Amino acid sequence: MAFLTTIARAKPFARFLRCMSNIPESTVYGGPKAQSPNQRVTLATLRRKHRRREPITVVTAYDYPSAVHLDMAGIDICLVGDSAAMVVHGHDTTLPISLDEILVHCRAVARGAKTPLLVGDLPFGSYESSSNQQAVDTAVRILKEGGMDAIKLEGASPARISAAKAIVESGIAVMGHVGLTPQAISVLGGFRPQGKNVVSAVKVVETALALQDAGCFAVVLECVPGPVAAAATSALRIPTIGIGAGPFCSGQVLVYHDLLGMLQHPHHAKVTPKFCKQYAQVGDVVNKALLEYKKEVTNGSFPGPAHTPYEISPSDVGDFSNELQKLGLGKAASAAAEAAEKNNKSEGGSPTSD
Ligand code: KIV
Repeated sequence: MAFLTTIARAKPFARFLRCMSNIPESTVYGGPKAQSPNQRVTLATLRRKHRRREPITVVTAYDYPSAVHLDMAGIDICLVGDSAAMVVHGHDTTLPISLDEILVHCRAVARGAKTPLLVGDLPFGSYESSSNQQAVDTAVRILKEGGMDAIKLEGASPARISAAKAIVESGIAVMGHVGLTPQAISVLGGFRPQGKNVVSAVKVVETALALQDAGCFAVVLECVPGPVAAAATSALRIPTIGIGAGPFCSGQVLVYHDLLGMLQHPHHAKVTPKFCKQYAQVGDVVNKALLEYKKEVTNGSFPGPAHTPYEISPSDVGDFSNELQKLGLGKAASAAAEAAEKNNKSEGGSPTSD
């Protein structure tokens, strides 16, 4: 690999490599810069952080730009959550998203996030069948086709524990998820917090322990009271990742769109949970920018000279106009000449200068 990098520095070879790959040439669009060469977060990194009681940071991502942002911010784990169904696809629940759709999100995220551990959610309907074969097959696809490092699954019924164990035994790291498990709203009776009475609170701790015994490397605790999350965190040897579960967890996860405050969009306003802190009002910024763009296109002030970068020399404009005339396109010839004239005036040049 080091050898390849060295010889790739030689210009002709780099040109050859470029035509062999899909790396864009750095001309008009620039092309993406390589992300930081930092090492990928691994389960060993997470274990070390957990041992040192350093909080683990997790954020969801669904596409290349969100993945790059997580990467640049040094977030530990990038979760390609099935919440994509709600915040990206506009559904009211997480149930409709398919495995093929999740895989598209996974691939885009894998291209953008070079450092965080990449975890892909198993979508509803892709791992519940009675044999564990379906669960293992889906998990394998998330790694092989999605480029993820690990998977997450929801719930801790005996069937789910067995699936988690089978996936771990097939060599794939699994993150568990208990408390409010949105894929189970049909039996939970909606998006309801869990662990709010003794029976339910004990169940949260027991199910988290069962996922640990199945070999999970971490467990998400969603929408449970703080003391219940504290008990689970204390009882487990593996990290707990809280969402709406208070501060007594080994780490925290939030949905990208929720924490960024995409609230200008009515769907996001509807689906943003009340436990979410908004660290920005990106929705306001997006809305303002789009209104401004629309205004400038409508009144003709965009694109001005600063955003019209490609030049053709005045003599070529003349020859071009002549060619157009020969083709019987007199109006087009005048349009080209007039545009060149206007361009020159707005740049302060003389119509004849090169
Ligand atoms: O899909 C998702 O975003 C999740 C997190 C809320 C943990 O499962």
